[in-house]
Amino acid sequence: MSIKSYALNNHVPIIKDEGLNLLLATIKENKAKAILELGTAIGYSAINMAKLGNDILIDTIERDPAMYAKALENVEASGLQKQIRLFFSDIKDFVPDKEYDLIFVDAAKAQYGRYLEQFYPYLQDGGCYFFDNMVFHNMIYDIDSIQNRNTRQLVKKICRFREIVQDDRRFDIIKKDDIGDGVWIVYKRSLKK
Ligand SMILES: C[S@@+](CC[C@H](N)C(=O)[O-])C[C@H]1O[C@@H](n2cnc3c(N)ncnc32)[C@H](O)[C@@H]1O
Repeated sequence: MSIKSYALNNHVPIIKDEGLNLLLATIKENKAKAILELGTAIGYSAINMAKLGNDILIDTIERDPAMYAKALENVEASGLQKQIRLFFSDIKDFVPDKEYDLIFVDAAKAQYGRYLEQFYPYLQDGGCYFFDNMVFHNMIYDIDSIQNRNTRQLVKKICRFREIVQDDRRFDIIKKDDIGDGVWIVYKRSLKK
């Protein structure tokens, strides 16, 4: 069974096809070679990114033991273990040992603002964050009709993050709200004169 079928059958959340295609195109366009992924799940997106070329190195973080174990198994089966480093950790405790040219953010949506700041020192000038789920099943457009209180809080946080990051002069943003579950590609401006 393919990793994608396994994910669908077992309700593992993975990036949608459209989002993945845009992610891969962004990696190619930017010639990104050092990639950090926040949220491995079972390794589906990490494996797809690594397959783009054997000079692409991925560090990916997952805190769920069952997901991490399955990701290890999948990476081994893919033969890409030289390119993919899997970290079993909470993202908040992860300290990089290098800089990245692309950071794919695909973990807790309520923490996007924190992730942005935590990894800012490790993103190269001109590098980018790739944020998925920026429209959250289109719920950002109709917050008042969300019945579940926790979901409403989460969607409000996503909206707040959108406002903050788009006003942040450290970044140039490409917004693709109509792709997948909403993607923002957030480029780090060079602050050097
Ligand atoms: C949407 S899934 C990742 C999907 C994966 N990027 C893909 O497309 O194949 C999000 C994952 O992030 C993990 N996650 C959420 N919060 C986390 C945290 N604070 N630290 C580490 N992993 C976290 C979840 O356990 C989940 O497996």
